[in-house]
Order: sequence, then C-alpha cells, then structure tokens
Amino acid sequence: MSDATTDAPVSAYEKAPSDGSEVDPRCVPQVLDGDPPTGADIAYPDYSQEDQDNWRFLFERQMAMLPGRAGAAYLRGVDTLGMTPDRIPALADLSATLERETDWRVARIPGLLHERDFFTLLSERRFPSTDYIRGSDELDYTPAPDLFHDIFGHMPMLTEPDFADFYQLFGQAALRAEGVDRQSLERLHWFTVEFGLIRDPEEIRIFGAGVNSSKDEVLHALEKAEQRPFSVQAVIDQDYEVWHLQPVLFVAESFEQLVTEFRAWAVSRGLLPDGA
Ligand SMILES: [Fe+2]
Repeated sequence: MSDATTDAPVSAYEKAPSDGSEVDPRCVPQVLDGDPPTGADIAYPDYSQEDQDNWRFLFERQMAMLPGRAGAAYLRGVDTLGMTPDRIPALADLSATLERETDWRVARIPGLLHERDFFTLLSERRFPSTDYIRGSDELDYTPAPDLFHDIFGHMPMLTEPDFADFYQLFGQAALRAEGVDRQSLERLHWFTVEFGLIRDPEEIRIFGAGVNSSKDEVLHALEKAEQRPFSVQAVIDQDYEVWHLQPVLFVAESFEQLVTEFRAWAVSRGLLPDGA
C-alpha cells in the first residue's frame, strides 16, 4: 500500500500480477470522500437473495474447516459477534459489539483505501469495512476487498484485547513511517493481520484474516507452508508474494508477544512515542 513513487517500496497490491495481466481496477486504492459512516450511522444495504446465499455458502464452507485450525480467540470472536450463516451481519451491529468488547468501531468504506485513510482509521480504533459481497463467480477467490473478507476474516480478531491494541498501534506507527519502515510495516501487516499463525497453546493455529477467509489458504497454511517463529526482525526481513499461496508463515507465541514486540520495535524506530 505504498505510493509507487521514486524509490518508495512498491505495495503488494501494486506489484504486477506475475501472469502479466492488468491490475484489477477494484484493487486500485481510493481516497475517502469525507468521514466514512461509522457505527450506528451505517445503514443495512438492500442485499439480494444471491448476496445472502453467497454469505451462507462462504460462511458454512469456512466454518466446516476452521474448528481445530483457527485460533481459539478467532473462533470465540465469531461467536461473540453473533455471526451465523442465516444473514449477512449488519456493520452497525458488529460495531456495537466491538465497541463493547475492545472499544473498536466499524467504518463503512467503498473499497480498497488509500493507505493514509486506512492507517488513520486504524489509529482511531475504527476498522474500515466494505458492505458488499463477492459475486457467485468469485466464491473461491477474489482479489478485491469484500465484506466476507472484512467481516468474517478480520473482525473476530478485533475482539481479542492484545490484538486490538496491536492493530491500533500499527495504524499509529504507519502514519509516521517513511522509507524502509513503510516496507517493514507492510510485511508486518501481511504476516500477522493477514497471514498470522499463533501457538494456541500447544498446536499451531490460524489467526490471519487472509487465511481464515480463504478455503485454499487454510489447508496450505497448516500443511504446506514453512512455519517459522515470529519475531519482528524475521518478518521484516521476509518478502512475500501476494498472488500465490504463501510458502513461508510466522508463528507468534501469543498476542501479548505480538503487541509487546511490535511496540518496542516501533518505539525504537521513532514511529511511536516512548511509553506508547
Ligand atoms: Fe484483509
């Protein structure tokens, strides 16, 4: 999500697909037009029956795989947020629950955001979420953001207190990052928020949204990917490829480790104030 200017690191989404095809226009970041509706101000869209059917299909398919594979905190979050296959959850309701649990809220956004808007919302403990769902032709994979990834993938982890703090600190640090720190933060986001694994407590489980919301990534992450111990330094030394299943993933010992190590690193880089 970096600007593709001068020598700034190129964003994962701006890296050209390896098959030489064009970047999907839905993956071009957009700048917000004013403050996005948040919490109770978000109306419930007029979803079609096909939309609701797609939610049911995706929800049931993932939930058939995730017990025993996703982390306890994630599965608890699905439950706490009251997600069921019967109806696409309302962002306003999810926001109210998150606010009660960890003081996060949900902001409705129109699609992939320009990084400045994205980081600003995170720094304010507002999770940017779309409210439209992929079509029936993209049930197995979509490169574009949609509510299934945003709601089902991301929101359960925001009920976990240490993860919730980590994600806000991430947003705050990202707003101040320049040069190589931006690339470091992009890799940290990728290997934790999107593709993170956790020791839980003896078994290795998934907490990353990009894995928990993807049929193929779930099995690949636990059975095929090389699993390395998480440290901030190990992650920022590791490049990644957005268009393929992930060959290398990182296993955090706990969410406390994640927030503690991230905070220390960000302070050491001048991205968070001392005592953050
Ligand atoms: Fe995501």
